[in-house]
Order: sequence, then structure tokens, then C-alpha cells
Amino acid sequence: MKKKLPLLLGCMLIVLSGCSRDKYMPNAGATPEVIFKEACAKCHSPVNGKVMALSPEMANVDAIIERVRNGKGFAMPAFPNLMGDSVEGLAQYVLENSATK
Ligand code: HEC
Repeated sequence: MKKKLPLLLGCMLIVLSGCSRDKYMPNAGATPEVIFKEACAKCHSPVNGKVMALSPEMANVDAIIERVRNGKGFAMPAFPNLMGDSVEGLAQYVLENSATK
């Protein structure tokens, strides 16, 4: 039990600071579509062929990359392992397959 205390405190810290991190790591050569299905679709399930509804300030590749890498609050986890070409392709995919609010 004693050995688990630091781990427990670490988890509590992460929860209290309001950020969750997803350890998802794409396979080499995974397409944006596959990455989206594996990492995002459990929360962003497509409706009428659109994966999500972007607010106007989120409807560009840079903003989407920033959101994926850093997450937001409790609800949207950060994906620190999505980087470089994989996050760029993913952001492009999200932009092309989303509705705008
Ligand atoms: C555990 C559930 C969950 C997962 C997994 C998840 N998201 Fe999200 N995402 C959310 C929630 C909830 C929000 C709304 C958060 C808010 O604005 O407070 C959100 C917001 C977003 C937004 C901002 C939309 C807007 O216009 O405000 C983008 C872009 C986004 N997610 C992309 C992704 C991508 C890409 C992935 C996969 C790498 C992903 N999300 C995985 C739950 C999730």
C-alpha cells in the first residue's frame, strides 16, 4: 500500500489540475482517418458524416493542432504523442470533415 501512495498523489494532482493526458500512440503509417477512429471517435462520433461541429475560432488547422496537443479542461484530453505530420494530417482531416457552428 505504501508504495502506491506517490502514484495515487500523482493521479490526484493530474485530476486536480484539470488536465488529462491520453497516451495514444499512432502506428507508423496510420492515416488521419485511422488515427481519428482510434483516438477521437469514442467522444467525437460522426453525425451525418461530420465528425464534429467546430466553433468559428477553432475552424483552422493551427487551432485544432493546439487543442489536440494541449487538450482542454477535464473533457478533452491532451494527446502529447500526436505530433509532426500525424497531428497536421489529423487536423486537416478534422477540418475537412467537420461542420462549422
Ligand atoms: C475523452 C473524450 C474526448 C476524446 C478522446 C477527444 N475529444 Fe476532442 N473534445 C472533447 C470534448 C468534451 C470537447 C469540448 C471541450 C470544451 O470545449 O470544453 C472537445 C473538443 C474538441 C475540439 C474543439 C472543438 C471546438 O470547436 O471547440 C477539437 C478540435 C477536438 N476536440 C478534436 C479532437 C481530436 C482530433 C481528438 C483525437 C485526437 C479528440 N478531440 C479526442 C472530448 C474528447
